[in-house]
Amino acid sequence: MDILKKIQDHREHEEELKWEGTFSEYLDLLKERPHLAQSAHSRVYNMIKSAGVVEEHDHKRYKFFDEDIYGLDEAMEKLVEEYFHPAARRLDVRKRILLLMGPVSGGKSTLVNLLKRGMEKYTHTDEGAVFAIKGCPMHEDPLHLVPSHLRKEFQEEYGIRIEGSLSPLNTMRVETEYGGRIEDVLVERVFFSEDKRTGIGTFSPSDPKSQDIADLTGAIDFSTIAQYGSESDPRAYRFDGELNKANRGIMEFQEMLKCDEKFLWHLLSLTQEGNFKAGRFALISADELIVAHTNEAEYRSFIANKKNEALHSRMIVMPVPYNLRVSQEERIYEKMIRESDIKDVHIAPHTLRVAAMFTILTRLKESKKASIDVLKKMRLYDGEILEGFSDVDVEELKKEHSDEGMSGIDPRYVINRISSTIIKKELTSINALDVLRSLKDGLGSHASISNDDKERYLDFISLARKEYDEIAKKEVQKAFVYSYEESAVTLMNNYLDNVEAYCNKAKLRDPLTGEELNPDERLMRSIEEQIGVSENAKKAFREEILIRISAYARKGKKFDYQSHERLREAIQKKLFADLKDVVKITTSTKTPDEQQLKKVNEVVATLVDEHGYNSSSANELLKYVGSLLNR
Ligand SMILES: Nc1ncnc2c1ncn2[C@@H]1O[C@H](COP(=O)(O)OP(=O)(O)OP(=O)(O)O)[C@@H](O)[C@H]1O
Ligand SMILES: [Mg+2]
Repeated sequence: MDILKKIQDHREHEEELKWEGTFSEYLDLLKERPHLAQSAHSRVYNMIKSAGVVEEHDHKRYKFFDEDIYGLDEAMEKLVEEYFHPAARRLDVRKRILLLMGPVSGGKSTLVNLLKRGMEKYTHTDEGAVFAIKGCPMHEDPLHLVPSHLRKEFQEEYGIRIEGSLSPLNTMRVETEYGGRIEDVLVERVFFSEDKRTGIGTFSPSDPKSQDIADLTGAIDFSTIAQYGSESDPRAYRFDGELNKANRGIMEFQEMLKCDEKFLWHLLSLTQEGNFKAGRFALISADELIVAHTNEAEYRSFIANKKNEALHSRMIVMPVPYNLRVSQEERIYEKMIRESDIKDVHIAPHTLRVAAMFTILTRLKESKKASIDVLKKMRLYDGEILEGFSDVDVEELKKEHSDEGMSGIDPRYVINRISSTIIKKELTSINALDVLRSLKDGLGSHASISNDDKERYLDFISLARKEYDEIAKKEVQKAFVYSYEESAVTLMNNYLDNVEAYCNKAKLRDPLTGEELNPDERLMRSIEEQIGVSENAKKAFREEILIRISAYARKGKKFDYQSHERLREAIQKKLFADLKDVVKITTSTKTPDEQQLKKVNEVVATLVDEHGYNSSSANELLKYVGSLLNR
């Protein structure tokens, strides 16, 4: 489907969803669907809940976050259970600013964006629909029209509690445009959109000298002031600050603690009383979720300052730590790479995993339990089942350090290192070793790493490297096993032919040249040595095999390589040893023979077809494993 069609569909859909009516028609609507009057916090909570909740071992996983936030299930659970849920039920936390605190690049902005984009979509659904006084720049809640002396009765009839008073602008409009008849005031359905500045606002600090409070609370409109004659006529004021625009929805305060204090004072009454002051008007009621984010250092210095006490007591701090699971970290990198300009570069299998291992290791704190080293902890956190450890142990481990995940290497550093290596070296493919090297080289120039940490991090790079070595060896072996059956049968037949000739003191005939050959003693020994058959015992061993073969033949059964336990073991070991040789030789000789080349090609083909390599990364892998085996 082409993009223009989609845009048109979206427009048409929005057109269909539109609703406009008088306040009295809106009240009829509310009778049927009281949820339309829900508060901003309640709408956010319901949005999160409506995406689905999975209950798994005593924990709730909110699927709303699944798509963009990885490995933070527990932090998200806490966030929902301790903030969104109680706030939705109008408990006191709703009056606090939600302050997300976490280390750099830990996903705070991603989380806020998810909430904002989520709200944009949710207001297009029946459950998330929002209605507002038509023509109001703050999309004011129509229920504010109900005069305060009637609200008690209203609540009895509709079961809805009204909070907040009608804004100065709408108070005036009711008089001038509707002659005081609130039942005629027009109400419309609105759809949140950050671009259109509806229901979603963002404030980020800039130079406090030039930044104006108007950014938050709006300003006098000098073009209309002459028309209305006075600065205190609300029609001569533009209610278009971020706090105004975010009414009914979400207001994001980026880097809140970097903000100049004068901007923050507004939040005191907004959060506590649900209103703020703009221009020369009575207080303006607003209903919005205020979410801010900061890092730990900034937060600490903020609370150390006594002057901030009032504001501090109006915040609820929710940690957003780093993810601590290797497999989830890998997904984070995959996502970041998909969104980057290096997405076309071939990334060899296991590359991101190995980088993730390093990163997670830097984030973990040492356990007090002697039986758990940091690698084990890393595995357990990632859900691996290790002998002697249970889920209970993992839960205990997590409780050992409350600040785990608040420090360490951030995902952006890893992606930056990967991209800079790719760009600098003009690589078309990159592997785990390239990345580890690049991560190591970058540590020197990383601003926020102390010397002690650097030492530790270098150790983690070697640990990750060792893990990779094991993975690499296994990978090549696996690729080899692809042609394993066939190779095993060939090798065994070859061995048996030689054994037969040896026992019968006969010669073998070369199938190609027809030339007569002596039994290949070296080949036979290379197999027998694998299972410790000594030079003295070789004759007996070979004869025993021949006897076995003829016994099979008498019974009309075929002797194959499964028929003799020890021989099978010898063949297997020989094959792996051969693999070692093959790889060794191809890396050390410049002129591999035909057989070796064939084998290498086979392995490369398997790696490409079945394990996600391209031919250059597969060859690199073989070379590397070759060098490992040569050590
Ligand atoms: N747990 C996570 N799940 C998914 N993506 C993550 C996670 N942590 C970090 N990221 C990714 O890392 C990058 C940085 O994240 P983001 O900008 O949200 O962090 P932040 O906490 O706002 O950082 P800063 O403190 O620098 O503002 C983003 O591309 C984000 O997608
Ligand atoms: Mg951010």
